[in-house]
Amino acid sequence: MTRPKLYLAMANLCIQLIFLVFLLPVSALAQNNGTVPNNSTLTAGETSSYWLSPSGEFAFGFQQLQEKDLFLFSIWYHKIPDKTVVWYVNTINSVPRNSTVVLDGQIGLVLRNPQGSQLWTTDVNSNQVDHGFMNNTGNFILKGSDDSWLWESFKFPSDTILPNQGLAIGNSLSSRQSATNFSQGRFYLHFDGDGNLVLATRSVPTNVYDEVQYYNSQTSSSTDALNSGYQVTFEGTGAMYIRKAINQTQQLNLVAESLPQASEYYHRATIDFYGVFTHYYHPRTFTGNPNWTIFWYVPINICYIQGEMGSGACGFNSVCYLEDNGRPACKCPNGYILLDPKDAYGSCIPNSSLGCGEVEGSSESLFDLEVVNDINWPLSDYERIYPSQEPVCKQSCLQDCFCAVAIFSGSGCWKKRLPLANGRAESTGGQSKAFIKYRKNDAPPVCQTLPPVGQTLPPVLTGSKPKNRGTVVLVGSLLLGSSFFVNLVFIATACFGFYFIYHKKKVITHPNTDALNTNLLYFAYKELADATNEFKEELGRGSFGTVYKGDLQIRSKNTTFAVKKLYRMDQDADKEFRAEVESIGQTNHKNLVRLLGFCDEGQHRLLVYEYMSCGTLARLLFNNPKPSWSMRTQIAIGIARGLVYLHEECNTQIIHCDIKPQNVLLDEYFNARISDFGLAKLLMINQSRTFTSIRGTKGYVAPEWFRSNQITAKVDVYSFGVLLLEIISCRRCVENIENLGEGENPILIDWAWDCFQEGRLDMFVENDLEALEDQMMLERFQMVAMWCIQENSSLRPKMRKVSQMLEGIVEVIAPPCPSPFSTTG
Ligand SMILES: *[C@@H]1O[C@H](CO)[C@@H](O)[C@H](O)[C@H]1NC(C)=O
Ligand SMILES: *[C@@H]1O[C@H](CO)[C@@H](O)[C@H](O)[C@H]1NC(C)=O
Ligand SMILES: *[C@@H]1O[C@H](CO)[C@@H](O)[C@H](O)[C@H]1NC(C)=O
Ligand SMILES: *[C@@H]1O[C@H](CO)[C@@H](O)[C@H](O)[C@H]1NC(C)=O
Ligand SMILES: *[C@@H]1O[C@H](CO)[C@@H](O)[C@H](O)[C@H]1NC(C)=O
Ligand SMILES: *[C@@H]1O[C@H](CO)[C@@H](O)[C@H](O)[C@H]1NC(C)=O
Ligand SMILES: *[C@@H]1O[C@H](CO)[C@@H](O)[C@H](O)[C@H]1NC(C)=O
Ligand SMILES: *[C@@H]1O[C@H](CO)[C@@H](O)[C@H](O)[C@H]1NC(C)=O
Ligand SMILES: *[C@@H]1O[C@H](CO)[C@@H](O)[C@H](O)[C@H]1NC(C)=O
Repeated sequence: MTRPKLYLAMANLCIQLIFLVFLLPVSALAQNNGTVPNNSTLTAGETSSYWLSPSGEFAFGFQQLQEKDLFLFSIWYHKIPDKTVVWYVNTINSVPRNSTVVLDGQIGLVLRNPQGSQLWTTDVNSNQVDHGFMNNTGNFILKGSDDSWLWESFKFPSDTILPNQGLAIGNSLSSRQSATNFSQGRFYLHFDGDGNLVLATRSVPTNVYDEVQYYNSQTSSSTDALNSGYQVTFEGTGAMYIRKAINQTQQLNLVAESLPQASEYYHRATIDFYGVFTHYYHPRTFTGNPNWTIFWYVPINICYIQGEMGSGACGFNSVCYLEDNGRPACKCPNGYILLDPKDAYGSCIPNSSLGCGEVEGSSESLFDLEVVNDINWPLSDYERIYPSQEPVCKQSCLQDCFCAVAIFSGSGCWKKRLPLANGRAESTGGQSKAFIKYRKNDAPPVCQTLPPVGQTLPPVLTGSKPKNRGTVVLVGSLLLGSSFFVNLVFIATACFGFYFIYHKKKVITHPNTDALNTNLLYFAYKELADATNEFKEELGRGSFGTVYKGDLQIRSKNTTFAVKKLYRMDQDADKEFRAEVESIGQTNHKNLVRLLGFCDEGQHRLLVYEYMSCGTLARLLFNNPKPSWSMRTQIAIGIARGLVYLHEECNTQIIHCDIKPQNVLLDEYFNARISDFGLAKLLMINQSRTFTSIRGTKGYVAPEWFRSNQITAKVDVYSFGVLLLEIISCRRCVENIENLGEGENPILIDWAWDCFQEGRLDMFVENDLEALEDQMMLERFQMVAMWCIQENSSLRPKMRKVSQMLEGIVEVIAPPCPSPFSTTG
């Protein structure tokens, strides 16, 4: 091919191209010279719903957002792939499909929603608009018939300024809310009345300034107003500076040097949604790198700028990490989650409550600390411990419900409360440690790792018959030998069996409408059988029945519950059964297991209780390692409070009669919850009027059970005393000889007295350092226990006094020997 031929071919190609261009619709051509005539209309969602600048580099109109059918009324770079938005209306976030903009000769641009309501309009000061013009600079101009400029988008910037655009005194840029949400954000860049360019935050939506300044150009002169900043200028070359008032060409603050050529690169300066004012450039013609490159930015480290008010660069409780080019990354600390999951730069909240006074129980059982090096929340302190040591600092925060984080650095400990502000990463090389408090899982590991339900000690049966409510007179008057017990169990079983067979024939079913006065739920047997999978998962066996786990919809909530299948019942006692269930149902205390409902259908008697996820106290107590002392003391106090309620505070006094660690359950927060209360009474009515029995458990029963004394609430005080000793020592009330240390008495109450008398509580609690450190409380607890196990019931304090003594409200005096006449050994 010769050279002329090549030229010819190229010319041909050009002609074809030109021809192609001319084939385009006339309207598109008209747009391409930048002029927008009167009455021109754009509709969101229609193809090419925009007006182009003559070069086609900028477009003005509706840009579709990521969310389907939402459009942003804006100006954008039209020739680059990501169609970067440079102007939008701050007050309008997005508009729906079929919204319109019209160039009205009387009022300029009018934006309307599809229903025709006016959303926004330009203010042209009652001038007549002749036409609009989309300039190649990115400025949209409304012109009068004399070519005067009536309105221009450059005068109403959003978050970006472009070359040829300036910021006059009083003008400002506002950040958007996030990369894709164009609502007004927290940060703004303001050219203030003193001539300083200031980057700060403001509260949305009140627009009140913050005092914290992320950047200040320091271009005001207090002595000479003419030497102060007058205008921020962004030249066509991409250079940006602040002019002085006295000589408008003089530069006060050069912010760019050795700029990429404006002929080859687009320039823009944007206050990014994360608060950094950044000068970007981008090749005009699409080449290898389609991204904007950062040329210059302020502030250098946004994470380090802090103020008394506000959250800092990230949201409250968040931590700011500085990334490349001044951009911050905000991260919630472990145990915290984003308040708004879509706003990664927003505030964080604890994933579960750390608040005060909301749950009972020791902090150590509920909370733990996570150690993170080199982060800090300066200015959020409420207490300083100086000098301090790391363990003291940790302990102090863990035990203080106000403390959310403690910083240990050097030899100081700074305790901080919520909300934490100005969170940031600091490079101290591990010198500074943050202890971040978090709530342990609802089902703490200790629940899961404990062995299966502890076995119950054999019940003790003695004859007795009911008297008044809550008081029982024993018929048997002798301290009974064990062989007698066996016989008694046999006889009792035979009697039950007889009644069981006798009554089997007349099965009574109760209609569901048979409601009680309380808000107890009535269950059909079938319902409970289904919910427990035919009584498949056994949770434990007690003196009164077997307990199974089940799942049910209770008051339209999926609930896990425990159902106690009572041992043989007598249907003739039906009325009393219901009365007793009702009285149990009326109890309501945070240290009692709540009765939710019941079933008495035919021979079936079942009680439905709330489920206690952490099992029995027995399981916790006789486990290795020992549960913490502080947790144990809280549990003891909880049981005491529950008993005070049963004895003195509920409508009818309830004597438990079988206080032991198997009958104290633990909820998810390790609160002690007494179970099986009221059942002693139930059991009595369940048998024939002439032969009744009361059960207690060997080792926990008060001596008066074996005498013909009246049974009073003091029997529970005795059992509580034994239980308290078990809680203090983590030892069973009767221990196998092989598990004993040297000289240790297998009978706990005797061993406790021996140790107490000899002033050797260290022997009693063994290696429990935590308890030994808490000497005062340990002694107090031990003395209270000694008072409770007095053989003479009149010497035992009432549960109210016991509770007050445990809590340290009432002084405890030294107890006498619990069994002055006994000859144990
Ligand atoms: C653009 O084109 C329209 C009609 O095609 C014409 O009236 C107008 O004068 C042109 N404007 C410019 C600035 O060339
Ligand atoms: C715009 O509309 C008005 C009223 O509908 C009409 O009077 C005017 O002539 C129109 N102007 C143009 C340029 O079409
Ligand atoms: C938008 O307008 C078109 C034409 O008038 C109509 O077919 C469509 O349903 C409208 N869409 C919405 C979302 O209103
Ligand atoms: C545009 O409308 C205004 C007011 O209606 C009118 O004064 C002006 O002449 C119109 N311009 C054109 C080009 O039609
Ligand atoms: C476009 O903007 C430049 C720079 O501000 C200005 O000089 C020029 O006159 C504008 N063009 C029109 C047609 O208004
Ligand atoms: C943007 O944020 C505002 C304020 O938080 C919210 O009302 C709006 O729905 C958001 N817009 C989008 C498109 O998510
Ligand atoms: C303003 O500054 C320019 C360049 O620095 C200088 O040429 C000019 O004379 C100055 N004008 C006045 C009024 O100071
Ligand atoms: C452009 O930026 C995006 C997001 O900021 C990034 O994922 C991508 O890797 C960048 N591309 C190039 C070529 O740098
Ligand atoms: C809360 O966060 C902590 C620490 O990351 C974690 O152990 C715990 O499981 C979380 N709790 C919940 C309810 O998500």
